[in-house]
Amino acid sequence: MSKNQDHGFWNAAQKHLIRYGGSFEPAIIERAAGSFVYDADDRPILDFTSGQMSALLGHSHPRIVSTVSRQVGQVAHLFSGMLSRPVVELAERLAALAPGLDRVLLLSTGAESNEAAIRMAKLVTGKHEIVAFSKSWHGMTGVAASATYSAGRKGYGPAAVGSLAIPAPNSFRPRFRNADGSLDWQTELDDAFDLVDSQSTGNLAAFVAEPILSSGGILELPQGYLAALQKKCRERGMLLILDEAQTGIGRTGHMFAFQRDGVTPDILTLSKTIGAGLPLSAVMTTAEIEEEAHVKGFLFYTTHVSDPLPAAVGLAVLDVVAEEKLVERARHLGARLFDGLSRLKQRYDCVGDVRGRGLLLGVEIVKDGRVPDHQLGAAIAAEAFRGGLSMNIVKLPGMGGVFRIAPPLTISEEDLDLGLKIIAQSIEATVNTNRQGIAADEAIGDGVGIQASWIDVAF
Ligand SMILES: Cc1ncc(COP(=O)(O)O)c(C=O)c1O
Repeated sequence: MSKNQDHGFWNAAQKHLIRYGGSFEPAIIERAAGSFVYDADDRPILDFTSGQMSALLGHSHPRIVSTVSRQVGQVAHLFSGMLSRPVVELAERLAALAPGLDRVLLLSTGAESNEAAIRMAKLVTGKHEIVAFSKSWHGMTGVAASATYSAGRKGYGPAAVGSLAIPAPNSFRPRFRNADGSLDWQTELDDAFDLVDSQSTGNLAAFVAEPILSSGGILELPQGYLAALQKKCRERGMLLILDEAQTGIGRTGHMFAFQRDGVTPDILTLSKTIGAGLPLSAVMTTAEIEEEAHVKGFLFYTTHVSDPLPAAVGLAVLDVVAEEKLVERARHLGARLFDGLSRLKQRYDCVGDVRGRGLLLGVEIVKDGRVPDHQLGAAIAAEAFRGGLSMNIVKLPGMGGVFRIAPPLTISEEDLDLGLKIIAQSIEATVNTNRQGIAADEAIGDGVGIQASWIDVAF
């Protein structure tokens, strides 16, 4: 019997865990190394989502392991009013990577970084309306959740007063089209801001955006869009906040995704990738905005602000990214993965679209051309997991199941190709045996009732 069918484990999980969204994978993960996690049978499972889109250097990278053990023995946590060398050094290193964004605040999670960014934008502008994309994900805490529109809005009472949304541009399913059928994002943006203007009470503080909406199904802002969005913000005295939780630190083939567009935001938030799997996030802004916030009494005093342990990890991450040339690697491996996935698109009708940038790619599963097919997508993901590949699938209304593919930047070409092979085999097996619907309900272990799984919402 598989050690994954440990009834004691699953019964205790069922009895004692609060379920926080979606369902659990049908395996007990005992360890992880490089691009693989290993289940209770020591079966390697290729991790095509870098954990929760975070393990940029793969799992248990020796530099992270040695940094954590060294720093935890030296100084891990401090009174929040004390400073240590890793914190100041990381702030200096990040500022050098994002010219113009000279001031840095180090926190723990993505949601927290967006809370701080939005709080600062409100204080500096003296206004409170926050605009975001209708398929955004900025985190699960108060104000970040108010700016999150892809999931989780119902049942929790009012969102923050002044929360507004505009549609995210979608090249595969354009709402406005040019004569040649392609997405007319400028007309869409103009139309959206007409609506913002008519809803606004004159208190527009900021727009918060992901350069590639990940949980929204890998929707890339087309070239030129960010500049146009910044212009809309400037015209209205709003700040532009970019949330690079997933796109930052090289994943898209640039250190930050905004660098492709030559647009520097007023405030940048980083999380996930900057800690490469450990809880570290950052808010970056200009000296002018920071001065103004400080003069107005900016307060964001938390338990783990400026902690030396995660800061030391962030420094190690930046070192490894530079030494192993991971930004270039993301570009090069991303092109290889994109080609491989595009070949699958040519081969299988159910692969409707392949999109994204660098090593953050999306594959949308459809039927009859562009009709969303969540069930088939879920069945393919379940088959891939059985075949030794972990992929995350986003299921949103109006879109097909979208696989989010974001392997570690350290993945080898062989493992990338292995992942492509498992995806192809999973599509083949699922389409041929018409397994849709079966995988979804398959239980692990008799009577345990944990679903073979994918998740409905993706973070
Ligand atoms: C773009 C983006 N911003 C913010 C968050 C929230 O980060 P966290 O879950 O660390 O609070 C996420 C992820 O879940 C994300 O994808």
